[in-house]
This record gives sequence, C-alpha cells and structure tokens, in this order.
Amino acid sequence: MAETIAKLLQKSKIDRRESELLLSHVLQKTREFIISHPKQKISKLQEIKYKALAKKRSRVVPIAYLTGNKEFYGTNFLVNKYVLIPRPETEMIVEEVLSILKNKDKTILIDVGTGSGCIPISVSSALGDSSGTTYKIFATDISRKAIRIAKKNAKKHKVKIEFLHGNLLQPIINKKLLTTHCSLLIVANLPYLTEDQYRSEPSIQHEPKKALVARNQGLALYEKLFKQVRSLISNHQSQITTIIEIDPSQSEAIPNLIKKYFPKTKIEIKKDLAELSRLVIFSIKKNLNK
Ligand SMILES: C[S@@+](CC[C@H](N)C(=O)[O-])C[C@H]1O[C@@H](n2cnc3c(N)ncnc32)[C@H](O)[C@@H]1O
Repeated sequence: MAETIAKLLQKSKIDRRESELLLSHVLQKTREFIISHPKQKISKLQEIKYKALAKKRSRVVPIAYLTGNKEFYGTNFLVNKYVLIPRPETEMIVEEVLSILKNKDKTILIDVGTGSGCIPISVSSALGDSSGTTYKIFATDISRKAIRIAKKNAKKHKVKIEFLHGNLLQPIINKKLLTTHCSLLIVANLPYLTEDQYRSEPSIQHEPKKALVARNQGLALYEKLFKQVRSLISNHQSQITTIIEIDPSQSEAIPNLIKKYFPKTKIEIKKDLAELSRLVIFSIKKNLNK
C-alpha cells in the first residue's frame, strides 16, 4: 500500500529536516510542499528512491551530493563528488570582490581553483549587464571533472566565464592571456588543510581530498600561487590585488609567506561571522615588488 509523506517521515531514521530535503528532492517539490502536504501519497518507486538516499545519508554522505545541489550566495549550484561543496564563509570572497569592483573599471578577475565555479559565477551574476563588457573573468582548476561542473553552472546561470584547466595561474600565463595593462584581481580558495586536520574531520571524508589538503602545513599551494603572482607583476601587470581564503590557524603563517615574496605589501586580514580570521587581502604594484 502506498505510504503518505507523514508516515514515511515518521519512520525515517535520519534527522527530520534532512528527511524533508531528501523527500523534496525525490518528489521534485519544495520542502514547504512536503511540510504542508502530510497526507499526500507517494509511489512505491519514490519510496524506494527515498530510502536509498536516506541510507546513504546515514553513512554521512553530504546531503548536497545526494540532491546534487547546494545554495551559495542566494542561488543553487550543481555539485557532485568531484567538487567541494561551497561553504557559506566563501561568500565573503564574493562580497569583497564586488566591493572592490565597485570602484574600478576594466578589471580582469581570475578565480584560481574554481571547483563548482561558485565564486566567479556569483560575482558575474551580481554584476549583471556590466559583466563581460567591463570585466573579463577567468577561472582555473587542476581537475577536469570540476571544470565540467563549473561550466554547467555557468550555463545554468547564463554567465560568460573562460574556464581553463591547469595548475593555478599556469594556463593563463601559458596562453599569454594577460598582455593588457588593466588591473588584475586574483581570488583563490585553494586547498589549505593539513593531512591531520583532514583525517580528524569525519564530515569532509566524502569530498575530494585534492580539493582540501595541501602539503607543507596546508601552505604549499598558496606559496606556489604567490610565486606565480610575482612573475605576473614583473612581466605584465602594473597592479594586482589578491584575495585568498585561509584556515584561521594560518593567520600568521600566510602573512609571513606573503612578506617573503612581496616584502613591502600591506596585508589585511578579515574575520568571518564566527570572528575567525578567514580572508587575506593584499595588493602589489610593480615598483613594490623589489
Ligand atoms: C577548496 S576547493 C574550492 C572550490 C571553490 N573555489 C569553492 O570555494 O567552493 C579547491 C579547488 O582547487 C582545486 N585545485 C587544487 N590544486 C590546484 C592547482 N594546483 N591548480 C588549480 N586548482 C587546484 C581543486 O580541484 C578544488 O576544486
């Protein structure tokens, strides 16, 4: 006999909110519909689908991977097991970029390690019509599978971004895409966890390790990026602003690393809503690079 929504939710062994989210995914209805239609009958097939998802959820598979969606900066992004699930704290990068771009024109934005594409797509959507004419946006990732998802998201959100596969800024440097002298804004939420931090956090075990962990106390990829930024400023650009997301424990190590490559730059650290150091911002000009 067909179950009702209420009966199925009652029997479910996972958290009520998550049950509602999974059921809304199976029925292709909103969560509000699920809550307001307890007597609605569901088919046997839908029940089977729901139970399979609930079983995976009880094995700590993130809900976003089960529904294939995650909300970021007010809109939905497609996600799968090849991309990091966008985090709310990363929305700070979008806010920061938008506030910097407000006072600038002719800027090139590059998102390094784009994953689902959530950062540049949110920026481009927020910029609306001015995006594309005033700003050029590039995004890179070392994972071809991540680039595939990012492209799908860009199509879904109807924004124009050039996605490139490769190591940090290397594909942009190789293709000589930055020969113009307009200012450059580089953003990155690169892997920054240590191996130990990764292993001690059960909730992230289903996400790609390559999207989370970096060698040398989580600093290796940011150090490589700083080296590439230094080569860009000496060869092409007159001004580069860089915004990176960090682990709060790196709030001394990262500025020290920046000073190693850009001794005269002023470094700003921004805290997230939990009052933890989260963003590091620095700007360099050609003559400051010595
Ligand atoms: C922490 S995730 C961030 C994804 C996305 N920007 C976000 O905020 O949700 C880091 C991303 O960097 C990519 N990545 C790792 N090493 C890289 C490298 N050497 N060059 C380019 N991308 C890299 C990973 O594949 C992953 O998609």
